[in-house]
Amino acid sequence: SRSKVESRLLQYFYQFLPGSSCQSIPGPTGFFLIGNMMELTQSHLPIHLTNLAQRYGNIYRLKCGNTTMVVLSSSEIIKEALVKKWSDFAGRPVSYTGDIVSGGGSNISLGDYTERWRAHRSLVHGALRRCCQQSLHDVIERQALKLRKVLRDYQDKAVDLADDFTVAASNVITTLAFGKEYDNNSPELQELHSCLNEIVSLWGSPWISALDTFPLLRKLPNPVFARLLKEVVRRDEIIRSHISNYKSQDHKNEEVITASLLQGLDKHHNTEHEEVLTDVHVHMATVDLLIGGTETTAAWLNWTVAFLLHRPEVQTRVYEELCTVLEERYPKYSDRHRLPVLGALISEVLRLRPVAPLAVPHRAIRDSSIAGHFIPKNTVIIPNLFGAHHDPEVWDDPYSFKPERFLEGGGGASRALIPFGGGARLCLGESVAKMELFLFTAYLLRDFQFLPPASEASLPDLRGVASVVLKVKPFKVIARPRSATDI
Ligand code: HEM
Repeated sequence: SRSKVESRLLQYFYQFLPGSSCQSIPGPTGFFLIGNMMELTQSHLPIHLTNLAQRYGNIYRLKCGNTTMVVLSSSEIIKEALVKKWSDFAGRPVSYTGDIVSGGGSNISLGDYTERWRAHRSLVHGALRRCCQQSLHDVIERQALKLRKVLRDYQDKAVDLADDFTVAASNVITTLAFGKEYDNNSPELQELHSCLNEIVSLWGSPWISALDTFPLLRKLPNPVFARLLKEVVRRDEIIRSHISNYKSQDHKNEEVITASLLQGLDKHHNTEHEEVLTDVHVHMATVDLLIGGTETTAAWLNWTVAFLLHRPEVQTRVYEELCTVLEERYPKYSDRHRLPVLGALISEVLRLRPVAPLAVPHRAIRDSSIAGHFIPKNTVIIPNLFGAHHDPEVWDDPYSFKPERFLEGGGGASRALIPFGGGARLCLGESVAKMELFLFTAYLLRDFQFLPPASEASLPDLRGVASVVLKVKPFKVIARPRSATDI
């Protein structure tokens, strides 16, 4: 094919250049050091990488220890790598710390692209699809109504809703996974969250990534790393106890994902697969769904409220649309095409604050090319989704919150939106997430008006803090019921 010929020619040409690796790609000279990584992560790594794109272009390279990373910051270039050439870039970088959090690479999100990984992803994909067809809508509706009750009980007090959103998103996943729903103050739930949150934030910390880049540091004491190891053990105990509880039930709920995964595992063993999946894969898939499906959705809901406080007229427009189209009733997911203003709000928050702003790093599993540049095998690719969503070539006034751009631009604007990545590594929970964002937002905006606490000065800071997930800084809000009576 044309791309193979192109890649061979480029490879031939670049082998004569000194230092070979990604030579034709522009980028800052020198290394990305721990010092400036710390400074950057505190300020906001996706913003920094996006600023570098303004200087070096939408494809540039960074050197980090012995690793060359290529950062892609436009939707077109990201799609070329992730979708068009998916089979070249479906790998994940194998790393010392990644191996520890992923049970030796046996989860989906960090596992490298192998036959076994494909069998694992397809097993979980099938289980998720079956379970979503049967119960997802009901599960989300139930959590949206529970959230509504929690917000009403605040009785106009200014509160931080972040934890309530986390409980709602997490209950969707735990109900789907093992038929288990927690109360807001349940100690079991607190433990699960604190553990998963710790793992995500510790793993995103420069003290940990430095161990991948500079192996010598592994010989020194590192309290942050010691904490990470402890949390991974705690996580595994929690998940193990959930799965064994499920297995020991006399009347098992056959609709949940764990049931589908265990049945799928049996079928898998009964066919002549060389690459066998085991209980460890069921365990790690549960971790994937819990980590992938809780903080992302919760962070997105919190961003939505934060942006709406800055532009209350958008909130009014969505509310009026809900009242006109649905009159008295609550929305169904099938109503989404009749609610374009709500759809535009969802798209604009996904654009401005893609909650996984740098996706998950990919790895070239063979020599290839991107945007005409030769990319050698093993190069790490960073899809800078945040950068792509702020590309001035595509978006007018890219840093402003303007949901109306999705109403005016027809389908054009939506095509450049890639908050869930694409290709072989497309977010596994994309359809779960889309239904959640729609139903939670529609329920919340139908029943509540979100107001800032008292003065203009307390409007939320919209810059955000980024580790693996891009979150809004903590803020308080008043959720005022639209009607005085409970339904
Ligand atoms: C991966 C975005 C919700 C499970 C990803 C990736 C992105 C993403 C950008 C990386 C894609 C890549 O590597 O190129 C989001 C956003 C969400 C969301 C914006 C919500 C607003 C969810 C939910 C679940 C989930 C609800 C689970 C039910 C996963 C998993 C992966 C993943 C398992 C790893 C896929 C793989 O490596 O093959 N997500 N996600 N995500 N997501 Fe999501």
